[in-house]
Amino acid sequence: MNTVLYSKKDLKKKKVQSHIKETLHLGRNVIFPTETVYGIGAYALNEHGVKGIYTVKGRPSDNPLIMHVSSVEEMKPYIRNIRPYVYDLIREFWPGPLTMVFEKTELVPGFITGGLDTIGIRIPSNEIALQVIKIAGIPICAPSANISGKPSSTELKHVIDDFNNKVDIIIDGGMCNIGLESTVLDVTRDIPVILRPGMITKEMIMSVVGDVLLSSEVKDDEIPKAPGMKYKHYSPKGKLVIVDGDKEEVVTYIKNQIKKHKSSNETVGIIVTSDYKDLMNPDHTCLLGTTEVDIAFNLFGSLREMDYEEIDYIYTLSFTGDYSEAIMNRLIKAANKNIVKV
Ligand code: TXA
Ligand code: MG
Repeated sequence: MNTVLYSKKDLKKKKVQSHIKETLHLGRNVIFPTETVYGIGAYALNEHGVKGIYTVKGRPSDNPLIMHVSSVEEMKPYIRNIRPYVYDLIREFWPGPLTMVFEKTELVPGFITGGLDTIGIRIPSNEIALQVIKIAGIPICAPSANISGKPSSTELKHVIDDFNNKVDIIIDGGMCNIGLESTVLDVTRDIPVILRPGMITKEMIMSVVGDVLLSSEVKDDEIPKAPGMKYKHYSPKGKLVIVDGDKEEVVTYIKNQIKKHKSSNETVGIIVTSDYKDLMNPDHTCLLGTTEVDIAFNLFGSLREMDYEEIDYIYTLSFTGDYSEAIMNRLIKAANKNIVKV
């Protein structure tokens, strides 16, 4: 298969619009940017298109997909028993990086939801994503556009590496603004539950609905977790270690590790904030910037960069702050829970 690459400008052309529409209606896949990460899309009700996503990603079939729509009206046929607080969340956070998990109607086929009786839905804010949904005229299912287990794609290069000539169309939207996937919120209960943390934080949701729980705060047997959270995730090829402690001790520890690895002919990389620049001398450094927003934006790209540089051992930091729930969720998975306290 030859992948056709389009730019944002191309989307204005009628011919390109028809190509995208036809591709999705024929049950084939289109990769497009969203404000969080790139998504690999299919027409939500087309079994061939949806199964294509699972196949090309290598995704386990019990891991449900998020439905992307361009308006609240568009999602109504697919969901029922909307709780009143949902309208407040919609007003505050949509379009944007919040996925809400609703009870589904019989119009939603089981092949999207991994057999669950709920469906995750969001309205993205990225202009290209919205345009693709509008061009298609139908809801689009889209998981993150990465091979299962790898870091999500936040720029074109990542998408090309994973899917060139494996999907019909890729649309280039440059770098994704946020860099981490949406917050997934179960809204089927009186008190909503965060199934996957994201840049719409617990505090932000609380300020709108008063009460919200993290899935870790709910007893295991009381709630279906986001099935995707149990799989291996975001893994670079090298061994990633999170070093947690005061700056001085962290630097000393990593410096010693660098020495040790170099003497065994192993390559070492560090993924750190800018204030750690020049404190250590690894084979490769990825600077995340200074703020938590920078860290989120650069995180997945840094993990992929370590693979491009063929780094054997990667050291990174433990981050704290307003967005640390989202950031550390990704990092701890990527490190396979490998945390060293110094
Ligand atoms: O930002 C995002 O959400 C991106 C962009 C492309 O929209 N999409 C994304 O999709 O991250 P994916 O498939 O990579 O992650 C969706 C997560 C998975 O952990 C999945 O298990 C969970 O959401 N999920 C989806 N539907 C669910 C449902 N009905 N109940 C519980 N968890 C659900
Ligand atoms: Mg994903």
